[in-house]
Amino acid sequence: MCARFRLWPTPCICSGMRLSMRLTLSLVAGVAVVSLGLTLYQAHAQRRGLRRELQQRALVVAESLEKSAAPLVDGHSTSELQRLAAQFQNHERLAGVAVYDAQKTPLAGTAGVDELAAAGAGALRRAIEAPGGSGAFFPWKGKTMHVVALPISGATGSAGMLAVFQDAGYIDAQEVSLWKRALAGVAAQTVMIVCATLLFLRWSLRRPLAHLEKWLRDLRRGAPSEGPDLPEEAGFAPLKREAVRLATTLTAARAAAEEEARLRDAGESQWTEERLRAFIQTRLEAQRLFVVSNREPYEHVRRNGAVECSVPASGLVTALEPILRASDGTWIAQGTGSADRESVDDRGHVRVPPEYPQYTLRRVWLTPEEEQGFYFGFANEGLWPLCHIAHTRPVFRAPDWEYYRTVNQHFADAVLEEIAGERNPAVLVQDYHFALLPKMIKAVRPDARVAIFWHIPWPNPEAFGICPWQAELLDGLLGADLVGFHVQAHCNNFLDTVDRLLESRIDRERFAVNRGGRFTYVRPLPISVPFAAEAAMPAPGESNLERVAMLRAAGVEAPMMGVGVDRLDYTKGIPERFRALETFFEKHPSYVGEFTFVQIGAPSRTPIRRYHDLMGEVTEEAERINRRFRSNGWKPIVFLPRHHSHEQILPYYRAADLCLVTSLHDGMNLVAKEYVAARNDEGGVLILSRFAGASHELADALLVNPYDTEGLSDAIYRALAMTPEERRARMARMRMYVREHNVYRWAGTLISELAAIRLQAPDHGRHGAAMAAELAPVAPGR
Ligand code: F6P
Repeated sequence: MCARFRLWPTPCICSGMRLSMRLTLSLVAGVAVVSLGLTLYQAHAQRRGLRRELQQRALVVAESLEKSAAPLVDGHSTSELQRLAAQFQNHERLAGVAVYDAQKTPLAGTAGVDELAAAGAGALRRAIEAPGGSGAFFPWKGKTMHVVALPISGATGSAGMLAVFQDAGYIDAQEVSLWKRALAGVAAQTVMIVCATLLFLRWSLRRPLAHLEKWLRDLRRGAPSEGPDLPEEAGFAPLKREAVRLATTLTAARAAAEEEARLRDAGESQWTEERLRAFIQTRLEAQRLFVVSNREPYEHVRRNGAVECSVPASGLVTALEPILRASDGTWIAQGTGSADRESVDDRGHVRVPPEYPQYTLRRVWLTPEEEQGFYFGFANEGLWPLCHIAHTRPVFRAPDWEYYRTVNQHFADAVLEEIAGERNPAVLVQDYHFALLPKMIKAVRPDARVAIFWHIPWPNPEAFGICPWQAELLDGLLGADLVGFHVQAHCNNFLDTVDRLLESRIDRERFAVNRGGRFTYVRPLPISVPFAAEAAMPAPGESNLERVAMLRAAGVEAPMMGVGVDRLDYTKGIPERFRALETFFEKHPSYVGEFTFVQIGAPSRTPIRRYHDLMGEVTEEAERINRRFRSNGWKPIVFLPRHHSHEQILPYYRAADLCLVTSLHDGMNLVAKEYVAARNDEGGVLILSRFAGASHELADALLVNPYDTEGLSDAIYRALAMTPEERRARMARMRMYVREHNVYRWAGTLISELAAIRLQAPDHGRHGAAMAAELAPVAPGR
């Protein structure tokens, strides 16, 4: 039927039609009830008004008759009375008048009034008693009649009574006509509503529904689409939003499935987010996953009166989020945003990511003193320079250490609260901020699997040995079942440090520390980036256009561009790279005006003097070198000292002929891998410090010593002069490596190592008794 009438394009929209019919019927019923109620009220009011009018008119007639009739009744002039009564014959709506003596014997009346009086005897009696002469109604010959009675006052008192009869039938007639009009109105409104609804549906909903239907069909068939073409009106906005989300999820799921199929087909073993999700679910079974870090993955900030949610500059977030998303776990971190407190529930929880919540963020609150002592003080003025051999002297203050301990305990309490009631929870502690946390957690929950990942280098025992709280730090770390570093050298340094400073046995075979039968396994697990293998290739010439636009925004024109992306940290070797650039331009003046280096620098830890000074130093160095070489419309260095999102950095990566990573010392350095992952055109050269963990994996980068200004400047020249073939071959090999060793693999290996640890039976004591932990015979990833 739908197809025949073609009101709706296809049968599936028939349900829309049924819906609209239901809507119309409800509207009609609603309008009818309201109209009939109103008519009822109107009819009632009209009847009351007309009856009042009739009564008043009857009273006027009766009173004028009484004045003339009174002397005639007194004087017994019956014939006069009859003449008087006859004058009221044929008055409009007046059915008759009758005059009675004191004994209620009729004296005179209009023709036929006797019959009327006999029929309305009861009403006449009621009329005599009715207050204010209101009279009474009675039926007569199918009509409604009204009678009013009035006493006749004689010279000596009551001389008799007169009655005035009126025809009240017109009141009923008017009521009937009122109802007829009302019903006709309801009928007309019904027709109008049905027509208006159908027209509205036809013109307002049919098109969008048809578009939506076509869009869903296209989506099902796999055609790429940004979202259905729906009107912008408010009512359609949520529908459109949900449709876009549905498309994004479906497209991502489809891409992941296709990628899986492609990989299976190609016999490759690439890790994807989907594979990680499945892997985590099987490996951890019912165990829930908890991640602890100081830096939170999402920060709520109040800007211009509105709350905005942003991702802080941190490679850690990039690396850990896939694990949380894959497991719907809980991430425990410090709340640092100005609107963080107002964005959580009373347990400090908020679901994230905001646009598509997949896991829980639990925020921990620190006082400004705690943050100062724990984060800026002990973690970043003590441990950071202690572990990075960058020739900045660590500062150790006893109050900072106290805050470090207190804050570790705060976080331990938060973790214990979150894992309460969970069987064998898995806890992944992140970084040098929480060296004491593993022991604090294990002391209360020996059934928890605890790993700590140390994202920065671990120095040799001599270097670490200057820390006044070295034993406490190692003791805290060894509370974990697993300690992870990015590279083998850091694992070796850690074991050597433990061996040198603590009473323990190093099990070189298992690569573990044995303290009283309790094992802590130490593993190199090089972190990585997601690697979007299927990211669209830039169209030919697109990167060139991007480079021209980006440089022009900085007032520069140059056919070649280099890029550096760092937190402004003294370990990153930024002044060193600037000095190498200076030497490069000195030695190769033909590149003056031809090559510009863009340094993106996210301000970091600025309350610490060394970081504050570094900002000044980097700015001055860039300006000094620019003064030396600049010409009209060109300068050698563009320094952008602000935070850039990953999306903002990507065009720089794609357009840069080289990327400089010149860390003086670095745990891994994800910028190196991000640059490689971004170059799906297989262009660009990576110049990489041999003191960054990434150099252990990216052998096709030009490896440099950032302290060697000459060597570094030569590497810059070599990169720019490299043949396209060599460049492509190097980049292709690095891309293959990063694709296979992506962050999903890192996460999978970490989870796998942790899940493989066999915890001792619980009867060995829940509260701090030494727990023997044993690794299953072959640990994955080894
Ligand atoms: O490299 C160590 C590290 O903690 C990273 O994990 C993190 O991305 C970076 O330092 C940022 O540090 P912060 O949280 O102090 O800004």
